[in-house]
Amino acid sequence: MSQRELVGQPPAMPSVAGGTAPAVLQVEHLSLEFLTPDGWIRVVEDVSLDIPAGVTVGLVGESGSGKTVTSLAVMGLLPRETTRVSGSIRLAGRELVGMSQRQLADIRGAEVGMVFQEPRRSLDPAFTVGDQIAEVLRRHEGLDRKTARSRAVALLDRVGIAEAERRSRSYPHEFSGGMCQRVMLAIALACRPKLVIADEPTTALDVTVQKEMLRLMNELQAELDISILFITHDLGVVAEMCDWVNVMYAGQVVESTPMERLFLDPRHPYTEGLLAAIPEGTPQGARLRAIPGIVPPPSEWMHGCRFAPRCAHVQAERCESAPVPLAGEDRSHLVRCLRADELALKGIVG
Ligand SMILES: Nc1ncnc2c1ncn2[C@@H]1O[C@H](COP(=O)(O)OP(=O)(O)OP(=O)(O)O)[C@@H](O)[C@H]1O
Ligand SMILES: [Mg+2]
Repeated sequence: MSQRELVGQPPAMPSVAGGTAPAVLQVEHLSLEFLTPDGWIRVVEDVSLDIPAGVTVGLVGESGSGKTVTSLAVMGLLPRETTRVSGSIRLAGRELVGMSQRQLADIRGAEVGMVFQEPRRSLDPAFTVGDQIAEVLRRHEGLDRKTARSRAVALLDRVGIAEAERRSRSYPHEFSGGMCQRVMLAIALACRPKLVIADEPTTALDVTVQKEMLRLMNELQAELDISILFITHDLGVVAEMCDWVNVMYAGQVVESTPMERLFLDPRHPYTEGLLAAIPEGTPQGARLRAIPGIVPPPSEWMHGCRFAPRCAHVQAERCESAPVPLAGEDRSHLVRCLRADELALKGIVG
């Protein structure tokens, strides 16, 4: 195995950004611990990621890998009494870790927009969709009622709601799931945030609606030059949305690289497993291969490689004896696997 550079710092700007753009979001060495009946348990460990302006960075991994809690930390939405946050989260250069709840509430909705998996649950059933969009504009931009309402209608129109003026007076239960998600997107974008965090935004939608939603997000991102942290367990969605991908497993980033490279030249056996499980990547009639086993809960994480118990390429003595660093010859492809250089893993093409 060649001598790999041990990377103690987060990766430099993704090359897709052209190299020198300052990061909109810069997460460095983020670790999260939660207070449980069994004491403090670490659920995210040493996660670093950069999102330059106008770039979509994916966070992908199976259920329980730590994607949502990482994004909640970025938004300052984890309960303070039961959470320990260490590391740094900077939004446009401003440190969010340690900020007051009030300051964070001002940033949410204004500088960071959010879109979650359950659009209907995120909307208030008691208010019309128009009022809910207008409320964000009034709160963060101090607009008067009338101006906020007309901006809300324009936003509804922009996210593809037909007859926006009339539909702005509808309540969430009168909208389909896909329409509710468009409303959530309008709310997320209302104040022209620098960053949008989208956590499985299309998982609850059917396939056609999902495709429309992804297309809309891509379109609006280009139009508004926003950065997106896109969370999904679906690599097919990653291929459509992301410029750069961080694969998470058991609370750690295990592979970080530009999207195309992840698909063509995966280096972590976990990534290879995820790629093999994509329906489109599977020849017709072939059985979809799933990775055997499940993501272990934090209480069962191994001292060495956390993926070792599920890995087809494990060499027990080597892989299980000590924590494996995230490393790479250059920062555009980091991998947390001691065997990354010697394994010839299969990508989705070739
Ligand atoms: N408040 C909490 N207290 C203790 N553990 C928690 C808490 N919230 C989440 N966890 C644990 O943190 C880990 C990561 O959870 P998280 O919800 O971030 O996963 P995820 O990658 O978003 O999964 P999914 O794809 O299912 O949404 C899990 O093991 C989960 O059980
Ligand atoms: Mg989640």
